Amino acid sequence: MQEVSRAKIERRVRELAPFHHDIELPFGLRTHVPEASRQERERTRINTLIDHAWPALLEACGGSLKGLRVLDVACNCGGFSVKAAQDGASYVMGFDVEDHYLKQADFIKEALSLNNVEFKRLRVEDLDPNIHGMFDVTFCFGILYHLENPTLGLQKKSRR
Ligand SMILES: C[S@@+](CC[C@H](N)C(=O)[O-])C[C@H]1O[C@@H](n2cnc3c(N)ncnc32)[C@H](O)[C@@H]1O
Repeated sequence: MQEVSRAKIERRVRELAPFHHDIELPFGLRTHVPEASRQERERTRINTLIDHAWPALLEACGGSLKGLRVLDVACNCGGFSVKAAQDGASYVMGFDVEDHYLKQADFIKEALSLNNVEFKRLRVEDLDPNIHGMFDVTFCFGILYHLENPTLGLQKKSRR
């Protein structure tokens, strides 16, 4: 994957802001743009979860995500997918229903030259192991309360 220039990253961050996750990019840049931010949550959301829940998550996975396939349900701009890829997952698939969030996620993936992450436009209700494959770990952050039928959403994410 070709390296993305500092100027391009700066331009795309401005064009695509605000981002729901504050993610570290090359050249000391970040996705958080204070002037474009709608709420403080955008700066703290991913960091709070990573600081407090990530150690327990890694422990539950045997100490590391190394070599695991990770599914990031309702990935938004992909902060948790990126973190999983950087922590050694062999493959990460993030999906969401909003094109704008997927554009943000693809930009971040390109800026960080991550080649083991894919972002797709998909409804959790349409998740199908025969099409999308099986995963070792599923992230299900901030989605159940968005679903008309959360039980169906949970069933779709479970092994059959
Ligand atoms: C509160 S955000 C949570 C984003 C991220 N998982 C997090 O915890 O920061 C909810 C996300 O769910 C997505 N979403 C809503 N309904 C969905 C559905 N039926 N299938 C997949 N994604 C959905 C929205 O586009 C949005 O990105």
